[in-house]
Amino acid sequence: MTTFSLSKGFMRTLMFVTAIFLIGGISEVNASATRHYTFNITLQNVTRLCHTKTMVTVNGQFPGPRIFAREGDRLLIKVINHVPNNISIHWHGIRQLRSGWADGPAYITQCPIQTGQSYLYNFTIVGQRGTLWWHAHISWLRSTLYGPMVILPKLGVPYPFAKPYKEVPIIFGEWFNADPEAIISQAIQTGGGPNVSDAYTINGLPGPLYNCSAKDTFKLKVKPGKTYLLRLINAALNDELFFSIANHTLTIVDADAVYVKPFQTNTLLITPGQTTNVLLKTHSNFPNATFLMMARPYATGQGTFDNSTVAGILEYEHPSKVHLKKLPLFKPTLPSLNDTSFATNFSSKLRSLANAQYPANVQKNIDKHFLFTVGLGTSPCNQNQTCQGPNGTRFAASISNISFVQPTTALLQSHFIGKSNGVYSPDFPYSPNWFNYTGNPPNNTKVGNGTKLMVLPFNTSVELIMQDTSILGVESHPLHLHGFNFFVVGQGFGNFDPNKDPKNFNLVDPVERNTVGVPSGGWVAIRFFADNPGVWFMHCHLEVHTSWGLKMAWLVLDGKLPNQKLLPPPTDLPKC
Ligand code: C2O
Repeated sequence: MTTFSLSKGFMRTLMFVTAIFLIGGISEVNASATRHYTFNITLQNVTRLCHTKTMVTVNGQFPGPRIFAREGDRLLIKVINHVPNNISIHWHGIRQLRSGWADGPAYITQCPIQTGQSYLYNFTIVGQRGTLWWHAHISWLRSTLYGPMVILPKLGVPYPFAKPYKEVPIIFGEWFNADPEAIISQAIQTGGGPNVSDAYTINGLPGPLYNCSAKDTFKLKVKPGKTYLLRLINAALNDELFFSIANHTLTIVDADAVYVKPFQTNTLLITPGQTTNVLLKTHSNFPNATFLMMARPYATGQGTFDNSTVAGILEYEHPSKVHLKKLPLFKPTLPSLNDTSFATNFSSKLRSLANAQYPANVQKNIDKHFLFTVGLGTSPCNQNQTCQGPNGTRFAASISNISFVQPTTALLQSHFIGKSNGVYSPDFPYSPNWFNYTGNPPNNTKVGNGTKLMVLPFNTSVELIMQDTSILGVESHPLHLHGFNFFVVGQGFGNFDPNKDPKNFNLVDPVERNTVGVPSGGWVAIRFFADNPGVWFMHCHLEVHTSWGLKMAWLVLDGKLPNQKLLPPPTDLPKC
């Protein structure tokens, strides 16, 4: 167990330490600080499931280093690319107020960092505290390039719950024996679905339910009668996950780095891109057992998926060192793989604190109402090729029936220099022709495509309905918006009804977050305030769907005042 202070010296040391699982006793001397990190992107051999592979890492670590900061701090993270791949890093959930150049999605806010080049990500954490994370934002490199961001409240500001005894980041990932870059490039070539992963991981470790992995098990050692804050992050590529710890109750206190009204649950659901903080209260007496914590998928689509289970161990430290191996091992019960009613029930329990200190400033007067469909479809097979998608086509995915075409230069740059011609068009479509989105699938599954942006004047209040479609079968899609948090004001099944459904919207204490699961065969309504000028990516956080085009971007224009404008780009901004 490690206790440390947030000194700069320690931060540097931490980058070379891989096996710290417990944090606590955090103390601080200076208020708003500038924190420096160096991310050397290097190749490293890593072995799991008895397979050794050479993977792209940050500083040779897997998972990558943890970033610690406080609300109000400025982060300067120098990313140096020593690998053959192009690289970019995204600070998932950070609002990036006027600092869109540091957001990270390749070809959206920046050209990728090429081999031998570096880029300094420079941003300040404003009005946010909780757990977020960082990951590569190009192709499928985030399968190995990811790590937690722990943002403590400002010095002297307590949590809205009793101070936990220890804090523990728990990051879920997905392990592929093969090279994920080869998997996705093959899938794109054939038009078919990509091979699925071989294991899920907790802090990089698959655990005892996989072959050859008992030694690679995450262990959480606890004392009786204490409260632990678990900072959960789903960094898996393609799978929403259920998580539970045998014989223990979890209290959810935060979602996507925003406090929520605490509630208790035995099991939680976390989609790729989401984070959540939970309190784990240990039994007051030393129990005569050890407990498994387990995660496995919530899967609603038609395709194949990795239906394996990752397990870690919750172990009570006994003063007299009893033989832990002799103690019975309890397993949690997880919902069935397609338990949509659990998903609905769980997400409807998430509510903002909505008090004086942490108000829910839900947009009341909406300037723009949009409805975007989200879902899978097809695109035609090239002539003289046989494709492995549905009926010999290629898989595609779309928002508003537009499968996003990745540009070859960065959108934010073209916008800033006023040269959008041939790069993007400002005509993203909304409210597509009304059809029965969730009824019998239409015969025509073909999607359109383009690099289209939805343009918003500064300070527009937006309401967006995201509607799942049945075109290739209904499926839950975790949609992530860059640059903003949004309020989830409503959700439902079937087609959104603009006359009836808004009457049931929660405008009092809706959860505020950056990633939301669009219900399988349903819709979700979100509201946000476009007060951050820049180009902001929005996409499904199931990486295969992003690869197939389930993505778009908003262009938020500058406001009139000097402090409402995007700042100029840094001089080391990478070139394409
Ligand atoms: Cu966590 Cu655009 O991603």
